[in-house]
Amino acid sequence: MSIDLTENSITKEVQSTFDGCHDARTREVFVALVRHLHDFAREVRLTGEEWFTAVDFLERVGKITTATRQEYVLLSDILGLSVLVDLINDQSRPSATDSTLLGPFYVEGRPTAPNGADISAGIVSGMPLFFTGRVVGPAGDPIPGARVDTWHSDGDGLYDVQQAERLHGHLAMRALLTTDGEGRFWYRSIAPRYYPVPTDGPCGEIIRAADRSPMRPEHIHFRFHAEGYDPLITMLFRADDPYLASDAVFGVKRSLVVDFVQHEPGTAPDGTVVDVPFQTVDWTFTLNPSAG
Ligand code: BEZ
Ligand code: FE
Repeated sequence: MSIDLTENSITKEVQSTFDGCHDARTREVFVALVRHLHDFAREVRLTGEEWFTAVDFLERVGKITTATRQEYVLLSDILGLSVLVDLINDQSRPSATDSTLLGPFYVEGRPTAPNGADISAGIVSGMPLFFTGRVVGPAGDPIPGARVDTWHSDGDGLYDVQQAERLHGHLAMRALLTTDGEGRFWYRSIAPRYYPVPTDGPCGEIIRAADRSPMRPEHIHFRFHAEGYDPLITMLFRADDPYLASDAVFGVKRSLVVDFVQHEPGTAPDGTVVDVPFQTVDWTFTLNPSAG
């Protein structure tokens, strides 16, 4: 290694330290990472003070991160990296439902629920919402036994995990369902609402420094697993939402914008008589067959 490093020669020196990588992909990724990091520092003429600020920022992102507060995921989201990775890796056929980001509010320990269940668990109030869905293959063939995760905010734009104290740690507005013999799944819940991404941590500093909107348009999350098909992570967005074109995490795709239909009191799709106004959403999700 040279001991006469210059601003430009150091990049090759660092890259060559990855020559011994046993895994070619690891080498490729680190060599490119060093190139881009060094070019970035040279381009913006990064000062020592700015470098310390960045290290302190990343340290604070790490310190605030927990299983239910995913600040690193949020950082990736607000920088558009999560959606970029999703776009780069989208190999599905055009007929398949588009994917989008997972977000930080997916919880592994979510409850299972039978079709027709009220997944708001009656512990969160809001306008009743009845969701009816179908899961099909590219030819419209139903996929029975598909596992369907769904999760969404309450009518104030808050997820259960953001109000753990009030809900005594109960999970609500999320469930794992299974499609019936015709690929159908359905549940009752409460209508979600647009909400700001969490801004009380380090990522909030970036949003405020740029005077950016922290808002996400109203949506419902879905995650599908079915044998013989690629997993799908996606969301459905409310068509008349004011924040569709300014999503803080760049997650909206035109194909995922759907009607959340408003109804006067009456009979819901599952036959329940509802004595207050309610909403319905109906959507068919098309999965992509696995390659192998
Ligand atoms: C969400 O939709 O749950 C979400 C996605 C990215 C950042 C914050 C929230
Ligand atoms: Fe969300």
